[in-house]
Amino acid sequence: MPQSDSIWRDRPSTVIGDELPDQVQDLVVGAGITGLVTGLLLARAGRRVAVVDAGEVGSGTTGASSAKLTVLHGSRLSELVRRHPLSVAAAYLAANREGHAWLLRFCETHGVPFQTRRAITFAEHRDAIPAVEREYVAEQQVGLESTWLANLSVPFEAHAAIALDDQAQLDPVLVAEVLADQVQKHEGLVCLFRRAVDFDLSGDLVRVTFADGSQTSAAHVVLATGTPILDRGLDFAKLQAQRSYVIALAGVEPPGGMFLSIGGRHTVSVRDVPERELVLVGGFGHATGRADSDRAHRDRLRAWARRAFPDATEVAAWSAQDYARFDAVPDAEVLPWSNGRIHAATGYAKWGLTNGVAAALAISADTLGQKPAWAQQLAGRINARSVKDLASFNASVGADLVRTLPARFSGERPICSHLGGVLCWNDAEETWDCPLHGSRFEPGGDVIEGPAVRPMKPGRRSEA
Ligand SMILES: Cc1cc2nc3c(=O)[nH]c(=O)nc-3n(C[C@H](O)[C@H](O)[C@H](O)COP(=O)(O)OP(=O)(O)OC[C@H]3O[C@@H](n4cnc5c(N)ncnc54)[C@H](O)[C@@H]3O)c2cc1C
Ligand code: FES
Repeated sequence: MPQSDSIWRDRPSTVIGDELPDQVQDLVVGAGITGLVTGLLLARAGRRVAVVDAGEVGSGTTGASSAKLTVLHGSRLSELVRRHPLSVAAAYLAANREGHAWLLRFCETHGVPFQTRRAITFAEHRDAIPAVEREYVAEQQVGLESTWLANLSVPFEAHAAIALDDQAQLDPVLVAEVLADQVQKHEGLVCLFRRAVDFDLSGDLVRVTFADGSQTSAAHVVLATGTPILDRGLDFAKLQAQRSYVIALAGVEPPGGMFLSIGGRHTVSVRDVPERELVLVGGFGHATGRADSDRAHRDRLRAWARRAFPDATEVAAWSAQDYARFDAVPDAEVLPWSNGRIHAATGYAKWGLTNGVAAALAISADTLGQKPAWAQQLAGRINARSVKDLASFNASVGADLVRTLPARFSGERPICSHLGGVLCWNDAEETWDCPLHGSRFEPGGDVIEGPAVRPMKPGRRSEA
């Protein structure tokens, strides 16, 4: 029976959590790549920091990632060039170059193993070649040193491709654990199994309450929770939760690189894990809560993997989600209504190993008073087009609300505790998933992830 969680989480965590303090200077909520790097940068600057998480270190998307550490980001640059002035795409690349370099330096300094690999973006079918060509043009416009490959020798269908040498891949849970250890070594605290549920901004300090009733206060809070868990700025309405699938295969000759297809109906991603003699195949994503059958998506990924690697044995299969912003630009900003006291980082669209570190660099620099130029450029990009894009982005949410009205009034299905979305059954993972902003719940009602912080309201129908 294949393991149903990420291969990176198949051993007990090495991190021993600290007691929750009464008060800190910076409270970072979320111990994924974003929160841990932010916590470390602030702790290194001598601030009193606590990083808190609802689970273990790396228990969110970071620990389920394919963990390719690259600045070759699928079709991201062409999308940015299509929607924004060239300077935004250039700032995105600069941010991710810094994130990439910072994490590699961290791994080298602290003995975290990684492998250097060539990253490759390819067209799986001929009709996807124009998308690869557009990406290559955008990469040249902003000065990425990628090269065009007319042919690829791989065991799956692949046409035109772009390659970028000297990229890397690693074990994201190991990185998260070493980051947590460094936070602690710099007098920071790492407090585990605390789900933040309430933020009171009425006093001088932000008072944070956790699901177990415990509380702490902070002068400054960083929401590094994947999607921001505070609703006031309607940030969730600018994001789409995107779920995708990964399977780990044994008995496979690695194809020699880190691959991602673009331009087709689905994307597929391939990398090897030499220390475990595995190959990871991922992709076939969809908006969370909006698939007719999540299992069918995972089965299509399995069928693809069987065609590419017929002799393989599947040893693990899992899925995870990340958040994409309507304007394709990740966010690492102070929340405008928080009087400068809350930063939030999100919108990496499955490129968080570099974007998350870039967000941490931007937030910590902003907190310490010296924001990098690329962060200022990314922050100032809202224009008339963005407003139009936001309206069309949310049209599907409106349509979903209307479509699910009968189920809402019949009380048949459970209701999301975030803003009342009617939940959909995820038959791959046996969870209730919200099609509106991506919250997910255990069959018994507890929150797994997403902007919701409290249990769902049960319905009459129970698949569990
Ligand atoms: C299948 C898949 C493959 C991917 N592959 C790659 C890749 O190859 N390369 C790449 O660069 N990116 C990849 N990504 C994207 C990348 O993994 C993510 O962008 C990144 O890990 C997000 O990091 P994060 O720290 O923002 O969020 P997370 O890692 O999700 O961390 C958020 C943390 O916040 C905690 N939390 C949430 N709510 C609360 C609360 N109320 N109170 C306390 N704690 C809370 C969670 O428990 C979690 O630990 C992939 C994503 C997916 C889904
Ligand atoms: S996640 Fe917003 S309503 Fe469910």
